[in-house]
Amino acid sequence: KTLDDMGDIAGKRVLVREDLNVPMADGAVTDDNRFRAAVQTVAELADRGAIVLILAHFGRPKVPSPDLSTAQLARPFSQVLGREVRYIDWEGDAESVATLRPGDIGLLENTRFFGGEEKNDPATIDRFAALGDLYVNDAFSAAHRAHASTEGLAHRLPAFAGRQMEAELDALDKALGNPDHPVAAVVGGAKVSTKLDVLKAMVGKVDHLIIGGGMANTFLATRGVDVGKSLCEHDLTGTAEEIFDAADKANCTIHLPYDVVVSKEFAANPPSLRTCNVHEVAADEMILDIGPAASEALADVLKNCRTLVWNGPLGAFETKPFDTATMALAHTVAALTKEGSLVSVAGGGDTVAALNQAGVSGEMSFVSTAGGAFLEWMEGKELPGVAALTA
Ligand code: 3PG
Repeated sequence: KTLDDMGDIAGKRVLVREDLNVPMADGAVTDDNRFRAAVQTVAELADRGAIVLILAHFGRPKVPSPDLSTAQLARPFSQVLGREVRYIDWEGDAESVATLRPGDIGLLENTRFFGGEEKNDPATIDRFAALGDLYVNDAFSAAHRAHASTEGLAHRLPAFAGRQMEAELDALDKALGNPDHPVAAVVGGAKVSTKLDVLKAMVGKVDHLIIGGGMANTFLATRGVDVGKSLCEHDLTGTAEEIFDAADKANCTIHLPYDVVVSKEFAANPPSLRTCNVHEVAADEMILDIGPAASEALADVLKNCRTLVWNGPLGAFETKPFDTATMALAHTVAALTKEGSLVSVAGGGDTVAALNQAGVSGEMSFVSTAGGAFLEWMEGKELPGVAALTA
């Protein structure tokens, strides 16, 4: 059920779970994507005359502390929303909520300050539920947590999916649930160990699995390539072998780079920088990006695909020139998406940062606000926050 199924909500108190967990530095929000993603639902509920009560976590507090209070989010979120957002202290919150009028927006204290939130404790669910009449979950990016505010409340109050939740589920379904084939997945990042389950799930779902970043080194080593000083998880070559076998059986082609950018030290524009075939990496060199030929081959694969799921950079993209292949991929995907030949869905903190760096986030079919939840979804796991809405 969505906001369209809520009926007349004028004067009703609606608890809305948003993900306002934004990065901050020196008191300023450094990336307001999640704020912008929350605008549509919050504004629509307020416009329909509801008393909007936002539930959100901020960071991972062990105990309540002022530096993780949602008090500091009220003003920056209000600026993005273009309406007043009133921070509601958890002491006396019921009394404060009672003073709100239809169309008003309140931001409750960090849900993780409540002891039972992460345990999905019935007493905490009741505590939240007492503040509202209806519940909306708009926080796809927190839906991998079975917490009181993300899962428990959906069983306690009439529950609905918010607009961002709807958009995420719709985009993800187009990408992996019911996609146009051929489907490609680009999976990058430093370590295989963090994305083993993603890789295993992808071979059963996609036609082309393109592996980049440090994790490609483990797969290259499995194929007998000497990767020199590169980041490589030698203890995982057995698992990589299993992934190769599973891909063969599932008719999924795994693409590894055949040329790479190497250097003796990891620094910007190092003197020892060179490009070589993967079989020519010296013992004192490390692989820091995929090479131009591999980059071009990757673009050719994508030209023949209809759908792409992308998580993880192809190289050490924060340091130049090791962003080259990731930037080229971002521009290729943006162009193919614009042409209409590719549905492109990207997610994860580093991937979104890379898309922003390339200036093309707005040109993907969809960019997820989720990090951990995006990976769990790629792994094929059921997300408790989503399951509770459909139960
Ligand atoms: C995120 O930042 O990915 C979400 O807000 C979830 O946060 P968590 O990993 O602390 O649960």
